[in-house]
Amino acid sequence: ATPDTRTPTGAPASEDPRSAGQQGRWLTTSTGTRLRDTDHSLKAGERGPTLLQDHHLREKVTHFDHERIPERVVHARGAGAHGYFEGYGTAASVTVAGLFAAGKRTPVFVRFSTVLGSRGSADTVRDTRGFATKFYTDEGVWDLVGNNMPVFFIQDGIKFPDIIHAGKPHPDREIPQAQSAHDTFWDFVSLHTEAQHHALWNMSDRGIPRSYRMMEGFGVHTFRMINAAGETSLVKFHWKPRLGIHSLTWEEAQLIGGLDPDFHRRDLADAIETGAHPEWELGIQVFEDTDDQLFEGIDLLDPTKLVPEEFAPVQPIGRMVLDRNPTNFFAETEQVAFHVGHLVPGIDVTDDPLVQARLFSYVDTQLTRLGGPNFNQIPVNRTHAPVNDMLRDGFHQHAVHSGVAPYRPNSLDGGCPFTAGGDLSDDQTRAFVDAAHNVAGPKVRTRPATFDDHFTQPRLFWQSMSPVEQEHIIRAYSFELGKCFERAVKERQLQALANIDPRLCAEVATALGLPAPKPTGELAVVTPSPALSQLSGGPWPG
Ligand code: HEM
Repeated sequence: ATPDTRTPTGAPASEDPRSAGQQGRWLTTSTGTRLRDTDHSLKAGERGPTLLQDHHLREKVTHFDHERIPERVVHARGAGAHGYFEGYGTAASVTVAGLFAAGKRTPVFVRFSTVLGSRGSADTVRDTRGFATKFYTDEGVWDLVGNNMPVFFIQDGIKFPDIIHAGKPHPDREIPQAQSAHDTFWDFVSLHTEAQHHALWNMSDRGIPRSYRMMEGFGVHTFRMINAAGETSLVKFHWKPRLGIHSLTWEEAQLIGGLDPDFHRRDLADAIETGAHPEWELGIQVFEDTDDQLFEGIDLLDPTKLVPEEFAPVQPIGRMVLDRNPTNFFAETEQVAFHVGHLVPGIDVTDDPLVQARLFSYVDTQLTRLGGPNFNQIPVNRTHAPVNDMLRDGFHQHAVHSGVAPYRPNSLDGGCPFTAGGDLSDDQTRAFVDAAHNVAGPKVRTRPATFDDHFTQPRLFWQSMSPVEQEHIIRAYSFELGKCFERAVKERQLQALANIDPRLCAEVATALGLPAPKPTGELAVVTPSPALSQLSGGPWPG
């Protein structure tokens, strides 16, 4: 038996009549009793004390007292929108996922965000931007939880609490890094040279996007796709904005941050409301699923590395249009729960140690943030596919399950909890299959040697920048490191810059009034092509 409150109606979750916040013509209590007065508490005499028996007063105030939920531990500040994804039919050779079929439209909800600021922080700060997409496919929910930069600070998720602790506001005064000392962030980044690549993207104009509508998105990790023949490929996801990639200058970002801290949020909502619907094309870079999972010497399991598009072109597989604003910020944008483990048949994760930790972290944090284990029943999180799971009870259970106890095999309930016969899926080809990928080795807490090179790709990025972009990067490092109090931190970061590019280091060192160190070791020879479209921002193809 299918739980009756989760049968899909086909309507978008926010328009599902069962989710309507206001029904009927009268003001009522939460249990539907009509009210005659909500403006005066019940008192013993006109000027007397309020009575404990005033249930309506208590309900109204008690509910208000509990209106706030914890903000996200990261990516607290965000803006969301509804839309659709349309497949091109070009991905069939690599994946069985139905959403990529030609002309197939799948509803989506997207949430853009900054990473470090609190819920009420300004939009235009220098930061990475989150770009998370929930696809309500016929085969279940698929979440592509990405960022606007193709690489990440760390190579192993066990370091995530460390980097976030280093970057969040100072524990004593709760003043954000952006406005006071920057020592902890740059201490972390200079001590973990793997973070230099992402930090350089942050110091570039990509760190201050002009609009959410003008950002690229990246899945960052390498994922594994499975086709109808059961063959696997490794892929990287890319969103390319129809409007091209545009940034603010630092001065614009500072001014706008003061004048309109909601700049990006307002821009997204206004554009959608006026019919200028933002659009992205989704593309994949496809790599052979070899035993070593390397491509041109790049370890595909290392999330601090990208694969230049010259080596592996981004192949378009669909497009996304955002055409509807949320009806209620809290219900949708705040309560949406993304998770890298929300996968559909044909798309699987890899052994990238960063994604492996993320697989644990998202559900874990949402258990607290959204008050218990049933947050996938919240309208914005509800799948559009039929649900027939073995999960029961828990806080905020909205489904009314039938049948006897959910265990399998079950001789009393037709196989349980499924319909007579108890098949797991009547069409095995549409069921999720974990890619059968060989793993072997001793249990160790080390990282592979293929994760060791931390400077070649930052250098490639630096060299692909135009003179104006390089100037912006020099000014960004000079400004940000200029906020550090600790000389040793600045010197260590200058050393990292020397290893990326001696001129970058020299210019920043001059601005800081410090000597420029020499590179340690040989600088690898890099020959960037002038057409590094991914690195410098190319036009929307087609
Ligand atoms: C939230 C992206 C790494 C833990 C988010 C969000 C995005 C994102 C876009 C916001 C989702 C939303 O709008 O609701 C990424 C990317 C990563 C990464 C692209 C690396 C490639 C990690 C790692 C961890 C982590 C390594 C932990 C080990 C979290 C948590 C949240 C979050 C706890 C809050 C989720 C919530 O409260 O619903 N991340 N993240 N992330 N991320 Fe990550």
